[in-house]
Amino acid sequence: MKIATVLGARPQFIKAAPVSRVLRKQYTEVLIHTGQHYDPNMSAIFFEELNIPTPDYYLGVGSGSHGKQTGEMLMKIEEIVMQEKPDYVLVYGDTNSTLAGALVASKLHIPVIHVEAGLRSFNKQMPEEINRIMTDHVSELLFCPTETAVENLRKENITRNVWNVGDVMYDAILYNKELAQRQSTILADLSLAEQSYYLITIHRAENTDDPDKLKAILAAFRDIDGTKVWPIHPRTRHKLEEYGLDASAIPGLRLIDPVGYLDMLRLESGAKKIITDSGGVQKEAYFLRVPCVTVREQTEWVETLKGGANILTGTDREKIVAAVHKEVAPVYADVFGDGHAAEKIVAAIGQR
Ligand code: UD1
Ligand code: UDP
Repeated sequence: MKIATVLGARPQFIKAAPVSRVLRKQYTEVLIHTGQHYDPNMSAIFFEELNIPTPDYYLGVGSGSHGKQTGEMLMKIEEIVMQEKPDYVLVYGDTNSTLAGALVASKLHIPVIHVEAGLRSFNKQMPEEINRIMTDHVSELLFCPTETAVENLRKENITRNVWNVGDVMYDAILYNKELAQRQSTILADLSLAEQSYYLITIHRAENTDDPDKLKAILAAFRDIDGTKVWPIHPRTRHKLEEYGLDASAIPGLRLIDPVGYLDMLRLESGAKKIITDSGGVQKEAYFLRVPCVTVREQTEWVETLKGGANILTGTDREKIVAAVHKEVAPVYADVFGDGHAAEKIVAAIGQR
């Protein structure tokens, strides 16, 4: 059996690593990298660190408006899929690369496998929400990370070939956690002591593309005492420049380039709290038992809110500061599977 995987953005490399490893024991995988993310520290570093096989095709689509980026992907993926004739096309998550892969395959009558199906924020202003809904509705096999995701699909009348297999990012973290602890030297490199700093990531378009929101977020960071380490996403760096905002002037704020996965896990596990708008980072905070503050109005990962492990603040300056300074004693639950999502996905594909 031949499976064509389409990916292109940082979190998809991390999700693909455990799945590819298991998939390739039984099946042929053709890897198609759209080139949505292309800076070495947004792409190549993950292939090297996580031993992800070199893509068979690199489409070099790069950045652009939604239409331009997705359109170029559609044309290029279609050509490859028509030539390769895979039995399935596999996509991850909710990026423009996900949507492009799913649309091409469904129109060529090739069944789509969606990993991380059923997530909803119920906010259609988010490009990711459109990508998820569209992808789920053209997918043939839907692998959900949580029961909530299964329930979300049921409410949209998607009940056939839906599995709760757990979260592939949990597989990834279990596989790499100890390695990160042993190999990463990032805390020493940055002269950071354990539990002495907050870790920040901000990249959601809803936050970065509105100068008022980005200003409010920076104002909150100014009000938070102590060291704050921020590996900054290129979108956010560009937007700060565009709006003439100087984050480096904020006391205690240490802006660094995006880091590899192992360094990121080390930074996360050593932080006293994580402040983020990333989906993946919210979950990793939960897996690593580090309290999280999410600078968004909604989250798809509602399980992290129960037990007080994650607090939603939106972009309100005072709410962010209060949530970061709040003493919490979270209660955690095992709601993201058992770390064997990849095996379950591959087994389910085989039983078809
Ligand atoms: C994309 C996904 C988002 C995901 C995020 C993960 C969509 C619609 N969004 O957002 O769901 O959470 O990836 O990180 O698919 N850029 C660079 N170098 C790169 C990549 C991007 O400089 O290697 C800059 C460019 O200015 C680009 C901007 O970042 O315009 C945004 O990149 P893009 O891939 O369009 O969206 P992300 O914000 O990365
Ligand atoms: N990540 C990383 N280096 C960084 C920032 C994030 O390796 O500098 C990892 C993070 O650990 C997580 C994933 O990237 O596994 C999350 O991706 P991102 O925040 O870009 O996207 P999202 O999950 O919001 O779609």
